[in-house]
Amino acid sequence: MNPIKHVAIIMDGNGRWGEKYKNSRNAGHKAGVNTVEIVMNESIKKKIQYLTLYAFSTENWKRPKKEITFLFTLLENFLIKKIDQLIKGGIKIRFIGNLKILPKKLQKTMKMAEKKTSINNKLEVNIALNYGSKSEIINAIKVINKNQKKITEKNIEDNLYTKNIPNPDILIRTGNTQRLSNFLLWQLAYTEIFFEKKLWPDFNKKDFKNFLNKFKSLKRNFGLI
Ligand code: IPE
Ligand code: IPE
Ligand code: MG
Repeated sequence: MNPIKHVAIIMDGNGRWGEKYKNSRNAGHKAGVNTVEIVMNESIKKKIQYLTLYAFSTENWKRPKKEITFLFTLLENFLIKKIDQLIKGGIKIRFIGNLKILPKKLQKTMKMAEKKTSINNKLEVNIALNYGSKSEIINAIKVINKNQKKITEKNIEDNLYTKNIPNPDILIRTGNTQRLSNFLLWQLAYTEIFFEKKLWPDFNKKDFKNFLNKFKSLKRNFGLI
């Protein structure tokens, strides 16, 4: 049976869900927050150590400003409202991505959440925000060159946002779309990928548990026979 240390998720389909049921894409983003909580709680129960959630890509800036502002406000309110619950739950929050260009107020709240949960160790939740895998890799190579080090797998990994985090065992993408959309291209080299037809707000505990169980019975070869 394969142990599960790290689950990564591309939480897709919020906009379509909102349009379908509430005539508003943003309503779908709001509904998606519930699924985040379900998945966090279940990950703790299953003793998963890392959960990496794709919340906003470097390409998502191309969306209407109103939707972008809504997404950032939603995250900010979530962090403020749920901080005590996160602390109590033993959840350590971390953000990965090009964070410096995010709105200053949001950055402050993100730092607060990271600081207040920094000593927690039940589950580390990495929220990928303004995250793009290609620029992450380019940046790693630039740092290696600057330090006049050799380009090796180890040196690249040590300069990714995910430094010291094991590569994901499982990637889940909801929303009936089968692509990676610039997410963890390096880190997913040997990850088992599960695509889910359901939109993110409809994804539930049972769906999540089913994927975890499927993973456990897989034969992982890593190039061996
Ligand atoms: C994923 O849902 C969340 C973000 C990208 C922020 P989408 O907003 O992409 O939902 P769809 O794919 O348009 O339905
Ligand atoms: C990927 O979803 C990014 C996040 C879930 C944050 P998108 O909806 O942006 O991906 P594409 O554009 O359909 O590939
Ligand atoms: Mg989408």
